[in-house]
Amino acid sequence: MIKAAVLGYGTVGSGVVEVIQENNRLIADRLGCPIEVKYVLDLREFPGDKNEKLIVHDVQVIMDDPEISVVCETMGGSGAAYEFTKAALSKGKSVCTSNKELVEKYGPELLKLARENNCNYLFEASVGGGIPIIRPMNTSFAPEQIQSIKGILNGTTNYILTAMAGEGADYAGTLKKAQELGYAERNPEADVEGHDAGRKIAILASLMTGKTVRYEDIYIEGITALEAVDFAFADKLGRTVKLIAEAENNDGDISAIVSPRLLENDHPLAGVNGVFNAVFVTGNMVGDVMFYGKGAGKLATASAVVSDVIEAARATLDKTALPCVWSEEKVSLVAHDEKKERFFARVRDMYADKFSGKLSGAEDMGSIDGWHGYVTKSMSEKEFMDVLKTSGVDARYIRLD
Ligand code: HSE
Repeated sequence: MIKAAVLGYGTVGSGVVEVIQENNRLIADRLGCPIEVKYVLDLREFPGDKNEKLIVHDVQVIMDDPEISVVCETMGGSGAAYEFTKAALSKGKSVCTSNKELVEKYGPELLKLARENNCNYLFEASVGGGIPIIRPMNTSFAPEQIQSIKGILNGTTNYILTAMAGEGADYAGTLKKAQELGYAERNPEADVEGHDAGRKIAILASLMTGKTVRYEDIYIEGITALEAVDFAFADKLGRTVKLIAEAENNDGDISAIVSPRLLENDHPLAGVNGVFNAVFVTGNMVGDVMFYGKGAGKLATASAVVSDVIEAARATLDKTALPCVWSEEKVSLVAHDEKKERFFARVRDMYADKFSGKLSGAEDMGSIDGWHGYVTKSMSEKEFMDVLKTSGVDARYIRLD
């Protein structure tokens, strides 16, 4: 019998308990022994809840219990969650988490601590919710030189962009509707400004390189500047606007960026709609591989945490360490404005001549609703910024894929 504890009885934590209890028999069959949740740590009481008796308020009860070999950290944040994770790992208890902030900030340190104490730190649920992507990065892609990872890693923004594309609606109205439907937080900043996707691609880029790609070093643009007319131009171009978080390894030059992109309509990521997420990985041997599923939600995210619990339990029973190469060595990223891109740019009709006079080799997309659109040839963002500056015209732009 493997005994586990869950830190935090919120949405994901209660989902973890539900998945373990609901699928107990099949988990036992697959693992060769059952898993039982012995404690749930939470400050609150849960009168009438079927797991009321499992609730403890003192984390020490869990840390001091030698029967507990796996701890699920579903608290979030990087304060108490960090301290509790270190305490558990120091006692040789494996930790499985959905906490992307903690993983991004302290991943290598916690992995090292786990190794030193013959246990494991696992974080499948920290990126892409229920989508298996961390384990494939650590195992299935072991023979690969990964060349690029492109992801739709945020459900809130994908919901908004899908609605804007389908309904021709504006950003503010679509965000409001998303909030009313519960698809966007009341404070949506971390999602719509791209920071949530930024943390997730930082984790994936770190696993891609085996070193540390810091979220702070990634150039991040959100979706708040997009307007209905961008979607009308996207239609004309046979493209779709998506918030893409991507990391590339170009012969050792590593780049990472989060920004809206115009994808060709037949790109596999262009068909990922609503709150769904997907990750498109290109390896030098395997070619393109895509993972698709629910990037958030109670049971999807909990399922990913429990998949880690089973892995951790198996490793405990077999006394093995699970593979994860992620060192503290920091990766220097290629400056985002040095990378060559093609840009879709739009300027007010009255400035079209002034702007296009400075933009050689661009494709003229004509005019929609008082805006004139262009698609540039491949150029660095620095060069593109020079064009904007010398033309003296205020242009809106979106990168092409
Ligand atoms: N807020 C995130 C999203 C879910 O909208 O995808 C958790 O990472």
